[in-house]
Order: sequence, then C-alpha cells, then structure tokens
Amino acid sequence: MTRRFLFVLGSSRRDGNTELLARRAAEQLPEGVEQQWIDLAAHPLPDFEDLRHDSDHVRPTEGSAALLLDATLAATDVVIVSPLYWYSVSAHVKRYLDYWSGWLRTPGADFRATMAGRTLWGVTALAHQEREVADPLVGTLNNSAAYLGMRFGGVLLGNGSKPGDVLNDTEALARAKTFFAQEAPLARFPYETD
Ligand SMILES: Cc1cc2nc3c(=O)[nH]c(=O)nc-3n(C[C@H](O)[C@H](O)[C@H](O)COP(=O)(O)O)c2cc1C
Repeated sequence: MTRRFLFVLGSSRRDGNTELLARRAAEQLPEGVEQQWIDLAAHPLPDFEDLRHDSDHVRPTEGSAALLLDATLAATDVVIVSPLYWYSVSAHVKRYLDYWSGWLRTPGADFRATMAGRTLWGVTALAHQEREVADPLVGTLNNSAAYLGMRFGGVLLGNGSKPGDVLNDTEALARAKTFFAQEAPLARFPYETD
C-alpha cells in the first residue's frame, strides 16, 4: 500500500516553528510517499457536538469536517503538527481529535477498523528549554493512538518562541532528518506491560 502522510497543522499563526520543523522532517520522506497538508485554521471545524448516541448522526458530506474525515481515512500516517499550548495540543488540534470520537460512531466511516494499524506521529515546538514539559502532549497522542490500535512514531520536539526560532535548534533539525524513518511500534497505554 502506498504510504500517504496527512499533516494536520494546528498552530494559531502561519509559518510558525512547528510547521517549519514538520516541513524539514517531511523533506526526508522518500519520493512516492504522498503528502497532504491541511491547516486547521484555514479549515475551521465548528464546535464539536457530541452526537455519538443520536440515531440521526450522519457522515458529513461537505465542509471542513468532510474534508478532514476523508483525509484522515485516506492516510496511512497522520502527523499532528501542534505547537505546545499550555503543555498540550492546541485548541485546533484538540477539536480535531474530539471529532475522532464522533467519527468512531459515524455510520459508514468504519473509523476504528480503518485507523487500526496506521501510524500517528507528532511534531511540536515549545518555548520552554526542558522538553519533558511536553509530556502531556506526548501522552495525549500516545494514548489516542493506543485507544485506536494505531502505531505511534513519537513526537519530534523543537525549541522556539517567535517564528523561525526553531531553525536555530540544530539538534531538532538533526532529529528531523531521520524522524519519519523510525520504527513506529503499536501504541500501548502506560499501564500495559509485555
Ligand atoms: C496559547 C499559547 C500557549 C503556549 N503555551 C506554552 C507552553 O505551555 N509551554 C511552552 O513551552 N511554550 C508555550 N507557548 C509558546 C509556543 O509553544 C511557542 O511560541 C511555539 O514556537 C509556537 O509554535 P508555532 O510557531 O508553530 O505557532 C505557548 C504559546 C501560546 C500562544
């Protein structure tokens, strides 16, 4: 199966550090790997409404929800490109992930079966120097992947505050070169042991 990467951009500004770092990593993907980039700010999702248990819950056919659902289902690899906001994912990304809960119950989407075995990755930029403050974001993505039976490739972290700063983080740029070449094991919840 041809690999198809979906990059979901979750910053609240354009051309920020997170996207810059993600593009550096994406440059290394082999030719033939398809890439789709969707900026959540340009394709805003309406407030998430929890219709999971409503019988008239239908698959979206237009707008940002339809675009994102179709793109997500078509992706072998979903890359969450989120700045670190309050130690976790941005509100744009959180809302996108909330939509996953609806899609799990959307008739005809077969979301859980389709996503199982596919790979979730993360890229984030943060102003803090100590990378462990991003653990809540890493945990959110790891556990979300585990919940869906997905693989998890980990999170590429870079340091920066104002746009462009991440280009001075030479260690992050070096990690970007091999990030997507890494093994992505099946995600496990922290309480799961071998
Ligand atoms: C709403 C908001 C919350 C933020 N929270 C954090 C944080 O919790 N920890 C941190 O290190 N930096 C935080 N920052 C700084 C950003 O992570 C940093 O500026 C990053 O480079 C932004 O990524 P971007 O350029 O891709 O938008 C925050 C910035 C904003 C606007």
